[in-house]
Amino acid sequence: MNVSEALATRKSIRAFRPDPVSRQTIESILALASRAPSGGNLQPWKVHVLIGAAKDELVRRTKARMLTNPRGGTPEYHIYPPELTEPYATRRFQVGEQMYATMGIPREDRARRLQQFVLNWEFFGAPVGMIFSIDRQMQEGQWSDLGGFLQSIMLLAREYGLHTCSQEAWAPFHEVIREYLKVPQEEIIFCGMAVGYADEAAPINSLVSERAPLAEWTVFREHA
Ligand SMILES: Cc1cc2nc3c(=O)[nH]c(=O)nc-3n(C[C@H](O)[C@H](O)[C@H](O)COP(=O)(O)O)c2cc1C
Repeated sequence: MNVSEALATRKSIRAFRPDPVSRQTIESILALASRAPSGGNLQPWKVHVLIGAAKDELVRRTKARMLTNPRGGTPEYHIYPPELTEPYATRRFQVGEQMYATMGIPREDRARRLQQFVLNWEFFGAPVGMIFSIDRQMQEGQWSDLGGFLQSIMLLAREYGLHTCSQEAWAPFHEVIREYLKVPQEEIIFCGMAVGYADEAAPINSLVSERAPLAEWTVFREHA
Protein backbone atom coordinates (compact mmCIF):
# COMPACT_ATOMS: atom_id res chain seq x y z
CA MET A 1 0.00 0.00 0.00
CA ASN A 2 1.34 3.42 -0.86
CA VAL A 3 0.57 6.70 0.89
CA SER A 4 -2.12 7.67 -1.64
CA GLU A 5 -3.94 4.39 -1.09
CA ALA A 6 -3.71 4.72 2.66
CA LEU A 7 -5.14 8.25 2.47
CA ALA A 8 -7.86 7.30 0.02
CA THR A 9 -9.03 4.31 2.06
CA ARG A 10 -8.81 5.86 5.51
CA LYS A 11 -12.18 6.85 6.80
CA SER A 12 -13.76 6.86 10.21
CA ILE A 13 -15.09 3.41 10.97
CA ARG A 14 -17.89 3.18 13.52
CA ALA A 15 -18.52 -0.58 13.68
CA PHE A 16 -15.66 -3.03 14.19
CA ARG A 17 -15.30 -6.78 14.20
CA PRO A 18 -14.11 -8.17 17.54
CA ASP A 19 -11.06 -9.88 15.96
CA PRO A 20 -8.02 -9.12 18.09
CA VAL A 21 -5.07 -6.96 17.05
CA SER A 22 -1.73 -7.92 18.54
CA ARG A 23 0.17 -5.65 20.88
CA GLN A 24 3.16 -6.09 18.56
CA THR A 25 1.22 -4.60 15.63
CA ILE A 26 0.18 -1.61 17.72
CA GLU A 27 3.75 -1.14 18.92
CA SER A 28 5.04 -1.17 15.32
CA ILE A 29 2.41 1.38 14.26
CA LEU A 30 3.12 3.69 17.19
CA ALA A 31 6.90 3.48 16.84
CA LEU A 32 6.74 4.42 13.16
CA ALA A 33 4.05 7.06 13.74
CA SER A 34 6.45 8.76 16.15
CA ARG A 35 8.52 9.65 13.07
CA ALA A 36 5.84 12.35 12.62
CA PRO A 37 7.43 15.79 12.75
CA SER A 38 6.91 18.19 15.63
CA GLY A 39 8.09 21.76 16.10
CA GLY A 40 11.44 21.68 17.91
CA ASN A 41 11.10 17.87 17.95
CA LEU A 42 9.07 18.20 21.16
CA GLN A 43 7.13 15.00 20.37
CA PRO A 44 4.30 16.23 22.58
CA TRP A 45 2.12 13.10 22.27
CA LYS A 46 1.20 10.71 25.07
CA VAL A 47 -0.90 7.63 24.51
CA HIS A 48 -2.51 4.91 26.57
CA VAL A 49 -3.22 1.72 24.63
CA LEU A 50 -6.09 -0.30 26.05
CA ILE A 51 -6.55 -3.91 25.03
CA GLY A 52 -8.90 -6.61 26.29
CA ALA A 53 -9.90 -6.36 29.95
CA ALA A 54 -8.14 -2.99 30.32
CA LYS A 55 -10.34 -1.50 27.58
CA ASP A 56 -13.46 -3.18 28.94
CA GLU A 57 -12.84 -1.63 32.35
CA LEU A 58 -12.73 1.90 30.91
CA VAL A 59 -15.96 1.18 29.05
CA ARG A 60 -17.52 -0.12 32.28
CA ARG A 61 -16.44 2.92 34.30
CA THR A 62 -17.63 5.31 31.60
CA LYS A 63 -21.05 3.68 31.50
CA ALA A 64 -21.25 3.86 35.28
CA ARG A 65 -20.57 7.62 35.06
CA MET A 66 -23.29 7.99 32.44
CA LEU A 67 -25.87 6.81 34.96
CA THR A 68 -25.33 9.98 36.98
CA ASN A 69 -24.10 12.24 34.19
CA PRO A 70 -25.04 11.06 30.68
CA ARG A 71 -22.74 13.65 29.12
CA GLY A 72 -19.77 12.78 31.29
CA GLY A 73 -18.84 16.32 32.21
CA THR A 74 -17.34 19.44 30.70
CA PRO A 75 -14.42 18.73 28.38
CA GLU A 76 -11.15 20.39 29.32
CA TYR A 77 -11.02 22.18 25.98
CA HIS A 78 -13.55 23.42 23.44
CA ILE A 79 -14.17 20.50 21.10
CA TYR A 80 -15.67 23.02 18.68
CA PRO A 81 -15.69 26.81 18.80
CA PRO A 82 -18.62 27.89 21.01
CA GLU A 83 -20.14 29.79 18.05
CA LEU A 84 -19.31 27.73 14.99
CA THR A 85 -19.76 29.88 11.89
CA GLU A 86 -20.22 28.99 8.21
CA PRO A 87 -19.14 27.04 6.27
CA TYR A 88 -18.08 24.87 9.22
CA ALA A 89 -21.46 24.62 10.92
CA THR A 90 -23.08 23.27 7.74
CA ARG A 91 -20.27 20.80 7.16
CA ARG A 92 -20.67 19.46 10.69
CA PHE A 93 -24.44 19.24 10.34
CA GLN A 94 -24.24 17.51 6.96
CA VAL A 95 -21.81 14.79 7.94
CA GLY A 96 -24.02 13.97 10.92
CA GLU A 97 -27.11 13.78 8.72
CA GLN A 98 -25.29 11.63 6.17
CA MET A 99 -24.04 9.30 8.88
CA TYR A 100 -27.49 8.67 10.33
CA ALA A 101 -28.95 8.37 6.81
CA THR A 102 -26.71 5.33 6.18
CA MET A 103 -28.67 3.63 8.96
CA GLY A 104 -32.02 5.05 7.93
CA ILE A 105 -32.39 6.98 11.20
CA PRO A 106 -34.44 10.15 10.68
CA ARG A 107 -33.66 13.40 12.46
CA GLU A 108 -36.68 13.08 14.78
CA ASP A 109 -35.60 9.68 16.05
CA ARG A 110 -33.37 11.03 18.77
CA ALA A 111 -33.45 7.78 20.71
CA ARG A 112 -31.92 5.76 17.88
CA ARG A 113 -29.40 8.48 17.11
CA LEU A 114 -28.34 8.43 20.73
CA GLN A 115 -28.20 4.64 20.70
CA GLN A 116 -25.67 4.84 17.87
CA PHE A 117 -23.76 7.75 19.44
CA VAL A 118 -23.21 5.99 22.76
CA LEU A 119 -21.28 3.29 20.89
CA ASN A 120 -18.45 5.83 20.94
CA TRP A 121 -17.92 4.82 24.55
CA GLU A 122 -17.46 1.18 23.57
CA PHE A 123 -14.82 2.16 21.01
CA PHE A 124 -17.45 1.01 18.47
CA GLY A 125 -16.63 -2.61 19.34
CA ALA A 126 -12.95 -2.29 18.37
CA PRO A 127 -10.48 -4.57 20.16
CA VAL A 128 -8.05 -1.72 20.82
CA GLY A 129 -8.81 1.68 22.28
CA MET A 130 -6.30 4.47 22.59
CA ILE A 131 -6.45 7.59 24.72
CA PHE A 132 -4.31 10.58 23.73
CA SER A 133 -3.21 13.32 26.08
CA ILE A 134 -0.89 16.29 25.91
CA ASP A 135 0.93 18.34 28.52
CA ARG A 136 -1.09 21.40 29.53
CA GLN A 137 1.79 23.78 28.87
CA MET A 138 1.60 22.94 25.17
CA GLN A 139 0.23 25.51 22.74
CA GLU A 140 -1.55 25.43 19.38
CA GLY A 141 1.63 24.39 17.57
CA GLN A 142 2.01 21.26 19.68
CA TRP A 143 -1.68 20.37 19.35
CA SER A 144 -1.14 20.52 15.62
CA ASP A 145 1.86 18.17 16.02
CA LEU A 146 -0.40 15.80 17.92
CA GLY A 147 -2.83 15.88 14.98
CA GLY A 148 -0.04 14.87 12.62
CA PHE A 149 0.83 12.01 14.93
CA LEU A 150 -2.80 10.85 14.98
CA GLN A 151 -3.01 10.91 11.21
CA SER A 152 0.25 8.95 10.98
CA ILE A 153 -1.26 6.24 13.17
CA MET A 154 -4.44 6.19 11.09
CA LEU A 155 -2.53 5.84 7.82
CA LEU A 156 -0.19 3.16 9.15
CA ALA A 157 -3.22 1.26 10.42
CA ARG A 158 -4.38 0.95 6.82
CA GLU A 159 -1.14 -0.78 5.90
CA TYR A 160 -2.03 -3.51 8.40
CA GLY A 161 -5.57 -3.81 7.06
CA LEU A 162 -6.83 -1.98 10.12
CA HIS A 163 -9.23 0.92 10.41
CA THR A 164 -9.64 3.64 12.98
CA CYS A 165 -11.94 6.30 14.35
CA SER A 166 -10.60 9.28 16.24
CA GLN A 167 -12.93 10.11 19.10
CA GLU A 168 -13.27 13.42 20.83
CA ALA A 169 -16.34 11.86 22.43
CA TRP A 170 -14.00 10.70 25.18
CA ALA A 171 -13.03 14.26 26.15
CA PRO A 172 -16.07 14.91 28.39
CA PHE A 173 -15.17 11.77 30.34
CA HIS A 174 -11.71 13.03 31.26
CA GLU A 175 -12.34 12.57 34.98
CA VAL A 176 -13.16 8.89 34.57
CA ILE A 177 -10.19 8.38 32.26
CA ARG A 178 -7.80 10.31 34.49
CA GLU A 179 -8.74 8.36 37.56
CA TYR A 180 -8.58 4.97 35.87
CA LEU A 181 -5.41 5.50 33.82
CA LYS A 182 -3.74 7.71 36.43
CA VAL A 183 -3.16 10.46 33.89
CA PRO A 184 -1.31 13.25 35.71
CA GLN A 185 -3.10 16.57 36.20
CA GLU A 186 -0.44 18.24 34.03
CA GLU A 187 -1.93 16.53 31.00
CA ILE A 188 -5.12 17.33 29.08
CA ILE A 189 -6.99 14.35 27.71
CA PHE A 190 -7.51 15.15 24.05
CA CYS A 191 -9.28 12.21 22.42
CA GLY A 192 -9.58 8.50 21.99
CA MET A 193 -9.13 6.29 18.97
CA ALA A 194 -10.78 2.99 18.11
CA VAL A 195 -8.49 0.61 16.20
CA GLY A 196 -9.47 -2.70 14.65
CA TYR A 197 -10.93 -4.48 11.64
CA ALA A 198 -13.95 -2.87 10.02
CA ASP A 199 -17.29 -4.64 10.02
CA GLU A 200 -17.75 -4.23 6.28
CA ALA A 201 -21.41 -5.25 6.49
CA ALA A 202 -22.36 -2.46 8.90
CA PRO A 203 -24.35 0.23 7.03
CA ILE A 204 -22.70 3.05 9.04
CA ASN A 205 -19.33 2.12 7.56
CA SER A 206 -20.60 2.85 4.05
CA LEU A 207 -20.34 6.57 4.76
CA VAL A 208 -17.77 8.39 2.67
CA SER A 209 -17.70 11.94 3.97
CA GLU A 210 -17.54 14.84 1.54
CA ARG A 211 -14.68 17.27 1.05
CA ALA A 212 -14.83 20.84 -0.15
CA PRO A 213 -13.13 21.25 -3.54
CA LEU A 214 -9.55 22.47 -3.58
CA ALA A 215 -10.49 25.85 -5.03
CA GLU A 216 -12.55 26.65 -1.92
CA TRP A 217 -9.59 26.61 0.42
CA THR A 218 -6.47 26.98 -1.73
CA VAL A 219 -4.90 30.08 -3.19
CA PHE A 220 -2.16 29.58 -5.74
CA ARG A 221 0.10 32.48 -6.56
CA GLU A 222 2.69 32.22 -9.24
CA HIS A 223 3.30 35.87 -9.97
CA ALA A 224 4.33 38.60 -7.59
C1 LIG B 1 -9.70 14.59 16.46
C2 LIG B 1 -10.93 13.93 15.92
C3 LIG B 1 -11.95 13.57 16.77
C4 LIG B 1 -13.10 12.91 16.30
N1 LIG B 1 -14.08 12.50 17.19
C5 LIG B 1 -15.08 11.71 16.75
C6 LIG B 1 -15.98 11.13 17.67
O1 LIG B 1 -15.92 11.35 18.88
N2 LIG B 1 -16.94 10.29 17.20
C7 LIG B 1 -17.05 10.01 15.86
O2 LIG B 1 -17.93 9.23 15.49
N3 LIG B 1 -16.21 10.56 14.95
C8 LIG B 1 -15.21 11.38 15.37
N4 LIG B 1 -14.32 11.91 14.47
C9 LIG B 1 -14.43 11.58 13.05
C10 LIG B 1 -14.90 12.75 12.19
O3 LIG B 1 -16.28 12.91 12.32
C11 LIG B 1 -14.49 12.43 10.74
O4 LIG B 1 -13.09 12.43 10.66
C12 LIG B 1 -15.05 13.41 9.71
O5 LIG B 1 -16.44 13.40 9.70
C13 LIG B 1 -14.51 13.05 8.32
O6 LIG B 1 -14.85 11.73 8.00
P1 LIG B 1 -13.78 10.61 7.69
O7 LIG B 1 -12.86 10.49 8.87
O8 LIG B 1 -14.57 9.35 7.48
O9 LIG B 1 -13.01 11.02 6.47
C14 LIG B 1 -13.20 12.62 14.92
C15 LIG B 1 -12.16 13.01 14.06
C16 LIG B 1 -11.05 13.66 14.53
C17 LIG B 1 -9.96 14.04 13.60
